[in-house]
Amino acid sequence: MNSRRILVIHGPNLNLLGIREPKIYGKVTLDDINKAITTFAGEHGIDVEAFQTNSEADMIDKIQSSIGNFHAIVINPAAYTHTSIALRDAILGVGIPAVEVHMSNIHQREDFRKRSYISDVAAGQVIGFGLNSYLLGLRAAVALIDEKNSAG
Ligand code: DQA
Repeated sequence: MNSRRILVIHGPNLNLLGIREPKIYGKVTLDDINKAITTFAGEHGIDVEAFQTNSEADMIDKIQSSIGNFHAIVINPAAYTHTSIALRDAILGVGIPAVEVHMSNIHQREDFRKRSYISDVAAGQVIGFGLNSYLLGLRAAVALIDEKNSAG
């Protein structure tokens, strides 16, 4: 098994990218993002699985199933960022480093988006760079794994 396996989770409504609020999210589709992720994985010699769901329960199940299978998680929890203690508890529970990503800069938007239940249990946050938020998040996840491996 590759010693650097990363799970990417896309939360609710991200399957609508491309047609969803283009002024905020641009024209990039989820397929474009996943292709860029696959290219990044090839270039960096890592294994990446990308998963999208609109269901909070499925996100939690996927996080739980990462134990023993993945070394880091890159997650865009979408609207559940601002509501889900269960998602927060799942990330805490598995003990796998998670990088929180958002395409938009959530601090430039409605007040309710400024609160994240995930940010203080994540290793870090990348926001506001569209598709590049994912690639920067993956880069951070790789660095976290490498740091952990070299610490022994
Ligand atoms: C989002 C920001 C969230 O506030 C929103 O609910 C989303 C997408 C982003 O990627 O910018 O669905 O996570």
